Amino acid sequence: MNMKAIILSGGKGTRLRPLTYSGAKQLVPVANKPILFYCIDNIVHAGIRDVGIIISPETGREIQTAVGDGSRWGITIHYIVQDVPGGLAHAIKTARPFLGDSSFVMYLGDNLIGTGIDRFVQEFNDTSPEALILLKEVENPKQFGVAEVTPEGKVIRLVEKPEVPPSNLALVGIYLFSPKIHEAIGKISPSLRGELEITDAIQELITMGCSVKSFILEMWWLDTGKKDDMLTANVIVLDEWLRESIEGDVDNSSILGRVSIGKGSLVRESKIRGPVVIGENALIENAFIGPYTSIGNNTKVVKSSVEHSVIMDGSELRDIERLEESLIGRGVRIFRNNKTHKALRVMIGDDSVVEV
Ligand code: G1P
Repeated sequence: MNMKAIILSGGKGTRLRPLTYSGAKQLVPVANKPILFYCIDNIVHAGIRDVGIIISPETGREIQTAVGDGSRWGITIHYIVQDVPGGLAHAIKTARPFLGDSSFVMYLGDNLIGTGIDRFVQEFNDTSPEALILLKEVENPKQFGVAEVTPEGKVIRLVEKPEVPPSNLALVGIYLFSPKIHEAIGKISPSLRGELEITDAIQELITMGCSVKSFILEMWWLDTGKKDDMLTANVIVLDEWLRESIEGDVDNSSILGRVSIGKGSLVRESKIRGPVVIGENALIENAFIGPYTSIGNNTKVVKSSVEHSVIMDGSELRDIERLEESLIGRGVRIFRNNKTHKALRVMIGDDSVVEV
């Protein structure tokens, strides 16, 4: 039976506020592409064609609009609504009619890894364990599910967000399961945070005597939860994956290094130093766009200098001497008023951070 995949794309994105007040965290762009799209790319690349996306009532419509029916990837995407945020194992329960008795990949739609998943799918198909999990050494294991593993890679025990972590190996949000996982989910009860934890279900598999394999990820992994992670993700992805492509117009400007400029954009009297991605229909004028910067569609950067930053769709920057390490949401305007009276005037949404 063919392997299927589910991508979890619900949640309220509280840790990424304010960027996620108006939208789903899985759609926050890294190098101008929503995180969720990298997940779909990886699944499709591994040869999986049956893909379901689990959405929540809050942000489901937005996800559906952005992703569409899957034709962009040459597949059909099914949408499955999880009515309550009941946890990752609850999401699998909700997806049971779609999953049937197939083996499947569960991919958390806010996880980004520096590699594809082909070899994990291959390993799972070749060795047929009941579960294959990915682990990554982290500095802050208390914030994740944590595994205790023998030197041979056998998983002995798993705990969700432990006070005293048994190791520094965190569970990456990409899991491969046989249908046995449904039986394990049937045996667990909600955790202290009121959720059916996938970590507990995998622990249950171990208790049932099933084979649970682990793979330690050598490449980078980002659980794109916080601003710093987002900027790091942007730097890494631009560094490793950005391809040079100039579709827009460049007029009297210097372009250095790997730079991508989308259709309908105009770069005039400016200096762009890659890696930099500029979306479609942007205007960059009398500006310096420094390395590691992503600038979205329909943006304007005029008489300004920007470095190590992300500026999302529809935002505008004017007369800003130097903006660095910043994350600017959608439809934001930042400008200097040239009056002699010096004051900072702002209209900023909840939970924003401004450093002056
Ligand atoms: C979830 C899992 C956790 C895992 C993490 C990876 O945590 O419960 O075991 O390490 O995803 O992103 P949550 O994002 O729900 O806090």
